[in-house]
Amino acid sequence: MKVSCTVNGERVEADVPSRLLLSDFLRHELRLTGTNVGCEMGVCGACTVIVNDEPVRSCLMFAVQADGATVGTIEGLDSDGRLTPIQRAFHERHALQCGFCTPGILMTLAALELRNAMPKTETDVREALSGNICRCTGYQNIVDAVLESAP
Ligand code: FES
Ligand code: FES
Repeated sequence: MKVSCTVNGERVEADVPSRLLLSDFLRHELRLTGTNVGCEMGVCGACTVIVNDEPVRSCLMFAVQADGATVGTIEGLDSDGRLTPIQRAFHERHALQCGFCTPGILMTLAALELRNAMPKTETDVREALSGNICRCTGYQNIVDAVLESAP
């Protein structure tokens, strides 16, 4: 089936199997391997991308469902090579170890930023990221980084 969408500001057209997952489309067809795939069942949040301004588990969506959509991945988060404040805070606060969960977390936060809903308290940060599982950090540095970068 044909899929035509905009990914990180660039128009993309492809012919894909109807059951190709959006995560596999991004990773294998477009070579945007920053979107990680962990559980493949909607639990870990590693595959989170933004579709039409909403955070989406790309392992639970078919590529053809993105037809006509605007898709944002971690590769498109920076602006002209400059890290966003939240990316900088993650770097400075050591908010990642292996980094596997990081793109999904950053995309979840980016979706919140889009609607001016960045969490401002520790409780809110933990709630906002409750759908993103990190197996390395114990979360405290992630929480600190988010709070530090809150406007
Ligand atoms: S890989 Fe999609 S939620 Fe875990
Ligand atoms: S930094 Fe390793 S899973 Fe989160």
